Amino acid sequence: MRRTGRGEAAVVSCGTLLVLLVSAIGCDQLMRKRSLGETVWRDNCARCHGIDGGGTVLKYAHYPGTNLLDDHWENGGEDFEMESTILEGIFPTMPSFDETLSGEEIKAVIEHIRSLRGGR
Ligand code: HEC
Repeated sequence: MRRTGRGEAAVVSCGTLLVLLVSAIGCDQLMRKRSLGETVWRDNCARCHGIDGGGTVLKYAHYPGTNLLDDHWENGGEDFEMESTILEGIFPTMPSFDETLSGEEIKAVIEHIRSLRGGR
């Protein structure tokens, strides 16, 4: 005997709900809104400093300055010191961002570095 009707409809709608739920969660993770600072970081800095700021990118790992998570600073870890490093760059390894980033973007990326450092 074939069961039809409400039972099947319930199974179908449960399945549909499940698919919707999973895609909603998946989308939320894929489309997570990034802060301005994180966007600037990912687009301009992560390729040398690493996505987490730990300075583990092989090509640049031997410069102590690429690790932005420790408390060792070559050029100073105050906001205004980071700002001038970012504006001027470090010849010949780090480019200057004077012409490519706005003041707002630089402020935001410094905030992002602070958050990577757990607020320090
Ligand atoms: C092409 C690679 C490269 C890119 C891109 C780059 N950096 Fe750097 N950065 C370096 C290197 C290498 C050093 C260390 C230089 C040294 O010690 O001689 C450094 C040093 C620094 C320092 C100084 C750390 C200290 O110890 O004083 C800061 C701050 C910094 N980078 C921030 C940034 C930010 C923010 C961005 C993106 C807007 C960025 N860097 C993009 C390679 C890069």
